[in-house]
Amino acid sequence: MSSDAHAIWDAERYQARHSYVWQFGEAVIDLLDPHPGESIVDLGCGSGQLTAKIAERGARTIGIDPSDEMIAQARANFPSLDFRIADAASLTIEDPADALFSNAALHWVNDQAAAIASIWRALKPGGRFVAEFGGKGNIRRIIEAAGGANPWFFPGIGEYSALLERQGFEVRFATLFDRPTRIEGEHGMEEWLGMFGSALMRDPKSVAEKLRPEMYRDGGWVLDYRRIRILAIR
Ligand SMILES: C[S@@+](CC[C@H](N)C(=O)[O-])C[C@H]1O[C@@H](n2cnc3c(N)ncnc32)[C@H](O)[C@@H]1O
Repeated sequence: MSSDAHAIWDAERYQARHSYVWQFGEAVIDLLDPHPGESIVDLGCGSGQLTAKIAERGARTIGIDPSDEMIAQARANFPSLDFRIADAASLTIEDPADALFSNAALHWVNDQAAAIASIWRALKPGGRFVAEFGGKGNIRRIIEAAGGANPWFFPGIGEYSALLERQGFEVRFATLFDRPTRIEGEHGMEEWLGMFGSALMRDPKSVAEKLRPEMYRDGGWVLDYRRIRILAIR
């Protein structure tokens, strides 16, 4: 992924057609288990829906995202919450937080070691890092249909835990699981490729046609998502 990956985000389209991203993310908030009064960073917060869910549980939140469009949308959606523009790899938080949460964002980050170092610095000792994103084997068939080049970081739990441990984190929970994800509509795959798959640099229509026999059923597309979910302690 190029370092200005965030430039591709169309916040309005994201909100209108891809709400499953944060709907699935609510389970990750349960793992985070936010408490009233805690300070919690939502890294790669997008249009802010999960930041707001965490704030509803009484935590003081800071939503961070490198995309101007996403942050503008998040501020418009939730004017009373704190949203800031920053990249995971160069994030600085003045007061270290009790927890850092991230849903569906970290596979976009180029420099994983730098991101893990900034997550470490953003946390108090004993602070929790709770994240879910694309894991090893995520959208394998889509990547194959687009020619095989994978611009994202989709690690296995051994690989990602090792990076976290190298930083000093204690990994308490890690899992990799299939999470088939349904996109409604005849043109769902092309829309998905337009929103998230432009990094594959292939014509969405021809990729969708290749995948149609295995992924299109009953008026929608079932994408071969696989997620890594992790809880680590600083
Ligand atoms: C699919 S959205 C998920 C948004 C939100 N977490 C949710 O669950 O709805 C992915 C987000 O990752 C952000 N992102 C991309 N590259 C990033 C980076 N280097 N650091 C932090 N966030 C990044 C994008 O700007 C985008 O808002």
